[in-house]
Amino acid sequence: MRAHPAGPLHGNIQQPSAAGAPPSDLGALDPHVWPRSAERIDGELHLGGLPVTDLARTHGTPLFVLDEDDFRGRAADFASAFTDADVHYASKAFLCGQVARWIADDGLHLDACSGNELSLALAAGFPAGRIALHGNNKSLVELQLAVDAGIAHVVVDSFDEIDRLVPLAAARVAAGGTPVPLLIRATVGIEAHTHEFIATAHEDQKFGFSLATGDALTAAVRVIREPALHLAGLHSHIGSQIFDTAGFEAAAHRVVGLLGQVHQATGEVLDELNLGGGFGIAYLAEDDPVSPRDVAGKLRTVIAAECAQLGLPVPRLAVEPGRAIAGPGTVTLYEIGTIKPVRLGASGAPGTPLVRNYVSVDGGMSDNIRTALYDANYTCVLANRISDAPPALCRVVGKHCESGDILVRDLWLPSDVQPGDLLAVAATGAYCWSMASNYNYLLKPPVVAVRGGSAAEIIRRQTLSDVFALDAVLAGEAAPSPAPSQPAPEHPVGAQR
Ligand SMILES: Cc1ncc(COP(=O)(O)O)c(C=O)c1O
Repeated sequence: MRAHPAGPLHGNIQQPSAAGAPPSDLGALDPHVWPRSAERIDGELHLGGLPVTDLARTHGTPLFVLDEDDFRGRAADFASAFTDADVHYASKAFLCGQVARWIADDGLHLDACSGNELSLALAAGFPAGRIALHGNNKSLVELQLAVDAGIAHVVVDSFDEIDRLVPLAAARVAAGGTPVPLLIRATVGIEAHTHEFIATAHEDQKFGFSLATGDALTAAVRVIREPALHLAGLHSHIGSQIFDTAGFEAAAHRVVGLLGQVHQATGEVLDELNLGGGFGIAYLAEDDPVSPRDVAGKLRTVIAAECAQLGLPVPRLAVEPGRAIAGPGTVTLYEIGTIKPVRLGASGAPGTPLVRNYVSVDGGMSDNIRTALYDANYTCVLANRISDAPPALCRVVGKHCESGDILVRDLWLPSDVQPGDLLAVAATGAYCWSMASNYNYLLKPPVVAVRGGSAAEIIRRQTLSDVFALDAVLAGEAAPSPAPSQPAPEHPVGAQR
């Protein structure tokens, strides 16, 4: 039988449960996974000192609740582990004006992956001299913005990009400006996965200049010979959600080797080495990420040893954590709407559950695409109350017209969860709001920062009027009020079935 071209995630394919045995306490908040301020008071989840029912009542659901102290604390952990290096927050994980200001105030650098991320950071007042711009297909307009703003580095990704940059940089120099500082992004032939890494000679992907084919060296030599460009250093990024330092160490070994080749070919000693991001976080209790301090120590040792061997001075190191800063401190709150028990078969082997409860919530793949896109695993808890009801095998799904619209594939929830209850999904701070869409015309949820008992909406809920405003026919039309997925003023949290 031919599979649907969109792959098995698209179809109604029931996979066996990966939920394992039910945990002894279904309401437990593993400190590994939940924001630092998460606690249960009288059974109810509190974040930043606030009960989730109050947050849901005031701001509606779905709702991203961001623990400010957690976010900034993790940024500070990286900064103190890498005191002798530059820590760049990879803003693709989650960016808004407030986050740009926190990162600026806390002294970190920032990576942008598009002209618009760059514009947002600049508009928020982020110092241009601490911004790097990434991207495999930067347009002339984006490059011009970077050159005019005077950002710290353009991370060059292709020969076409060098061609595009040369006249822009020449014009800046002709007008009395400095040469444009660049890093060359090298593809070092190492692919890191969560629990392993693969070092191969081939790099079948769109980013960077291949080290194996010599393109990275050719690009470096070309940039060094352009008077209006300044090659400040090299960059490599090997993947995301990595738990093992071996991949970073192998990448460091290879990229320092390239520093040596550049020195041999041109006599230039490059000052900077950026090893990218990708530091993993705990989505589930069993995930075991490495601490920033451990990674920093290992990288320092490898780089010092490699440089000593090549007789080169140790360059300034930079890293680009995104998920590890933004991910763990945010929780998404949803309200349960529909619960549908689905029989998984006529009979089952002993111990195999026969029923899975499809617990539908008021968001889904439009606010968290990661389960559908990457098969990501999340955990969630009943948030508005504690329950001692026996465990039921559940799948938390969204309200989109798509059977792959799954938020938490397999988990145990108390069997008495009911419509109106709140669910909290952990570790949704990275690559969830930033990847949000308006699929099925669902509206993007707000983000509320909580701290010490107060809450501030740092991104407001999108309205149907916002969406109508983009539509040639509907612009100016009044949207039905209240818009379908906006909260009613009094949110029916905990309403009975
Ligand atoms: C170049 C670069 N740097 C940093 C990151 C951030 O990765 P993470 O959020 O996993 O730390 C990414 C993400 O893919 C990236 O492409």
